[in-house]
Parts: sequence; C-alpha cells; structure tokens
Amino acid sequence: MVSRIRKAIIPAAGFGTRFLPATKAQPKEMLPLINKPSIQYIVEEAIASGIEDILIITGRNKRAIEDHFDHNIDLEYFLKKQGKWEEYEEVLKIAKMADIHFIRQKEQNGLGHAVLCARCFVGNEPFAVLLGDDIIDNPSRPALLQMIEQFRTHGKTVVGVQPVLPEEVSKYGIIAGKRIDDHIYELEDLVEKPDPDKAPSNLSIVGRYIIHPEIFDILGETKPGRGDEIQLTDALRVLCRQQGMQARILQGDRHDIGDKWGYIKAILSFALRCDDLHDQLTAFLQEQAAFSSNNKNEQPPAEEW
Ligand code: G1P
Repeated sequence: MVSRIRKAIIPAAGFGTRFLPATKAQPKEMLPLINKPSIQYIVEEAIASGIEDILIITGRNKRAIEDHFDHNIDLEYFLKKQGKWEEYEEVLKIAKMADIHFIRQKEQNGLGHAVLCARCFVGNEPFAVLLGDDIIDNPSRPALLQMIEQFRTHGKTVVGVQPVLPEEVSKYGIIAGKRIDDHIYELEDLVEKPDPDKAPSNLSIVGRYIIHPEIFDILGETKPGRGDEIQLTDALRVLCRQQGMQARILQGDRHDIGDKWGYIKAILSFALRCDDLHDQLTAFLQEQAAFSSNNKNEQPPAEEW
C-alpha cells in the first residue's frame, strides 16, 4: 500500500444556505477572501503539503469552480495584449495548479456520502480530505502538511483538531482521547455535533483528515445520522475501533468561513497582512471602534479541557 499522501478530496457540493442570497447562483466556495476565492486557499494548502492530484466534489451551480481552475484564453490574451504581466502570470498560475479533477455528487446526502463518491479516484491508498469552510492560516507550515508528517511517523488515520468554546461544541465533530505528546492525541471516540453537556472534550474536528481507504467499505454501510445525513464522523468512529486513530492539534489561525462572522474575520485578518491594505484598514477600524458603542471586548480564546 502507498504510504505517501498523493491525493486529496475537496467536497464542495453544499448549497451554502447560510450565505443566501449570495450563493443562489454562485458556489459559496467562490466567495472571495480579498481577491482569491476561498477554495483557492484550500487548493494552495493541499499543493503546499505535497498533494499531486485533487478531486473536487461538486453539485449543481458549481461550474464557476471548474472555470476558475481552467484556462480563460480570452482573458489571458487580453492581459498579454495590455502588458498586464503580473495579472497574466497570476491567472496562468491558477490554471496550472496540480491536476484537478471534478465529480458531481448527484444527491446531497451528507459529507460521508460526498467522500464515498471519491472511491474510484482514491483507489486503495490513504488520502486527504480538506473541507472548504475551514481556512487554517499558517503560511510557514500548512495544516495538512503537519498531519502528513504525523501520518508518516505513526501511520494511523489523522483528524485535525483545535479547541473551541464550550458553547460551540455542538457545531462540530468532537474527539475523545489521550494526549500522547504536544500536538498528538490517541483517539478513543468521535462524536458528531454533541450537546454541550455530553461533549467528551472541546477539541473540534476542523475539516482536515488523512484517512485509510478502508473507510469506503464502512461508508457504504453507514446509515444516516445527525441531520439525517451520512456523516463522515460516524464512519470514522467505526474505523477508529478497527484500526486506531489519532488527532493532531493544528497550529494556525482557523477561520470558519461557513459562518458569517468567521468569514468577516478571515477577510480582516488577511487584509491586515496585505501591504496595500494594512494601513488603511487599521485606521478605519480604529476610527470605527472609537465611534461605535458595540466595541465590547471579545471573549478570550478557548482553552482545552
Ligand atoms: C463538518 C463535519 C464536522 C466538522 C466540521 C468542520 O460539519 O461533519 O465533524 O467538525 O465539518 O467544519 P459541517 O460544517 O459540514 O456541518
């Protein structure tokens, strides 16, 4: 069996209901963070982590994603003619990123079902899954690479986790396990979106997975769970019992861009890093804070427990 992680799946078939009407006719994965659609950050993370082949699982209304990663001959010709070389290089680079393939998920039966659609693409080797709602910002050490390094050493399925506030546990898959070193947990269980009083920890799965291919047989038999959907977490729970599993506490700023506030925070945080936006944005935010009556202190970041 191949132990290198060469293939990644990016599920992108959801309706994006939390961003309606913006997502009525365009995929939520194409909503921009400054000047790049959010899915490009995910693809770039995969490539920076050594992934060679990417399968994006799409649904209806997702043509824009395919167009984005394809050549746009008219635009390339126009930019060349105008001598806009920087823009030309940027546009060309996107079309030349890793080998990107697409498949349609014909029914919206949940994340587990979306991953099952990738069975033929993956074959019999361990693979990565990156969810588009989670941007994990770590310019020096991509989140997926942190997990791949762990997989190389330990060889077990790995889920990426970070602590969340207690009131947020019911929005995520939550793990139970024993810490075996600074960033690694040996898993005992996983629960999809538990009630806060039943959560085994506050370590939430943050949309990054490296999974052994035996998951596909399990997914084929997984019954609909939470939300009447086939949940990847439910299948991982079975895989964990069969083969053992680990979690990796990911280093990086996590932005849940499936949520409006998470999306705004991601834009602000990226804009603060842009040389041409930093000063203007800082001045604007200071001005707003001075005049706003809503500038109450945020809660401190969550600690693990
Ligand atoms: C999915 C997973 C969940 C995970 C989350 C991360 O949930 O089912 O376990 O914690 O992504 O974003 P969704 O956000 O699709 O409801």
